[in-house]
Amino acid sequence: MSIAIAIDGPAGAGKSTIAKMAAKELGFIYVDTGALYRAIGLYAYRKGVSGDDRDAVEALLNEIKVELSFNDKGVQIVLLNGEDVSGLIRTPEISMMASAVSAIPAVRAFLLDTQRDMAHTKNVIMDGRDIGTVVLPDAKLKIFLFASPECRAKRRYDQLLADGKEVNFEDVLRDVIERDYNDSHRDIAPLKPADDAIMVDTSDEDRDTSIERLLKIMRDHI
Ligand code: DC
Repeated sequence: MSIAIAIDGPAGAGKSTIAKMAAKELGFIYVDTGALYRAIGLYAYRKGVSGDDRDAVEALLNEIKVELSFNDKGVQIVLLNGEDVSGLIRTPEISMMASAVSAIPAVRAFLLDTQRDMAHTKNVIMDGRDIGTVVLPDAKLKIFLFASPECRAKRRYDQLLADGKEVNFEDVLRDVIERDYNDSHRDIAPLKPADDAIMVDTSDEDRDTSIERLLKIMRDHI
């Protein structure tokens, strides 16, 4: 039987950094489910379709095949109709598109099996917004990571700068707050902790301390 660890939480709480490191330590596969929503957001963006136009986005799903694969270093690659879009989906525009399309029930249904299939055969640490509540409700361990909006915006800002993107902090903070609102107020699978999730606040904590703390929780539970 494979083991699944679910990590949910708002944008910038440190999910991907922590999950990636922990997966490496534990020998699990790290699955970033946000990348799937981002790929659909990118497709709609390229077609000039608004993320809020539910019917139009739903109609596009017939044309889309999204797959996750892993390179020889175990790093996740996102394929959109066979094209590696792993880098192209990490822009502020596509973040907002992903948040918008993720509120569409047909989009969530479209991506459900892809996510569940990954956890059937492999030990995974899967991060997202609804992994513990919807995608893998039987996960062995569920963690809900959170931090203040200002801390999360600062981390995202630093990451975008490090990636060579031109950004200003106020814009990043505004996007974080807007995405939190969208992600937690949508009708379907809103961002919220599972009843049996362990709550972990990473505000004002450096990355290594959070990783140590999370690794201890994981080792105690698997
Ligand atoms: O984790 P991320 O920032 O890459 O996610 C991009 C968007 O996708 C996010 O705003 C909400 C959505 N998402 C979701 O609804 N459910 C998931 N399991 C993962 C992401």
